[in-house]
Amino acid sequence: MPFSHYHIISARDLSADDILAIFDRSHEYLSFLRSSDRKRHDLNGVSVVLAFFENSTRTRVSFELAAKRLSAEVTVFQAASSSVAKGETLLDTVLNIETMKVDILVMRHHHSGAHEFLALRKGRVQSSLVNAGAGQHEHPTQGLLDAFTLFQKFGSPTSMLRGMRYCLVGDILHSRVARSSIPIFQTLGAEVAVCGPGTLMPNLEAFGVRIFSHIDEAVEWADALNVLRIQHERMQVGLIPSLREYVQYFGVKHYHIQRKPSLAILHPGPINRGIELEAEVADAAQSLILSQVERGVAVRMAVLALLAEARKSSM
Ligand code: CP
Repeated sequence: MPFSHYHIISARDLSADDILAIFDRSHEYLSFLRSSDRKRHDLNGVSVVLAFFENSTRTRVSFELAAKRLSAEVTVFQAASSSVAKGETLLDTVLNIETMKVDILVMRHHHSGAHEFLALRKGRVQSSLVNAGAGQHEHPTQGLLDAFTLFQKFGSPTSMLRGMRYCLVGDILHSRVARSSIPIFQTLGAEVAVCGPGTLMPNLEAFGVRIFSHIDEAVEWADALNVLRIQHERMQVGLIPSLREYVQYFGVKHYHIQRKPSLAILHPGPINRGIELEAEVADAAQSLILSQVERGVAVRMAVLALLAEARKSSM
């Protein structure tokens, strides 16, 4: 099945074939990134704007590198220094950028529904939208790069991630990574669990995931943990009694990985060392945290290239 998406907004829109197509291309681009070459020409003549209305390090830099390494024409738009600060609406901002002939708009926004709102303005918003993180809603390319990292370790195109046990740990309630990661891993056949305090859990009935309330149980069960950051900036009130208790019940400690050397550790970043995981865990051989970042460039190259090809074939 050819990749036929116009936007990448929600991981729920991606089938197993779509995800495998992204992984297949990511493999190719990862080999290229590890070679001495720095430039391919897959996105010659394609204009990409990166619009970040919220802070980012990894996502912004990796999308910029991904687009540039494929020879796209790249413009970075920082909302803080734009006319958004003068009160311009999101739609007006995007329509004004688009009229300058943009093919792909990669956007991070603090509002959960910002990308869907723009995608619904059919006939007005013409560019392909890529969700680079939307409020507490989704972060599909992060979910894809996390799954690609574990696919390379545990999976194959035929078995996908069937039978692998994957557990998200920590602040699930505020996590857009969790909301993208769960459907991607389930689509690939992995068993998915979450582990965290009840006050940081959304209603998970519809997700069909196992729930753990102590890190020791999660460590015993899982093949891989994706450890999430406590998002103090999104908490209206204190949802954990104290950081000390959080660390005691949910922090990943050095003894966990000593006890279970096969356990893979992921973290989407940024890390709070000493809170959701001990520094020794972040830096251990089992930690795939920097592998995730490396693969992030390849996955984002794949997403941009497949979207550009889908746009071309729909014209
Ligand atoms: N993982 C992630 O989205 O990191 P940034 O906020 O630095 O982009």
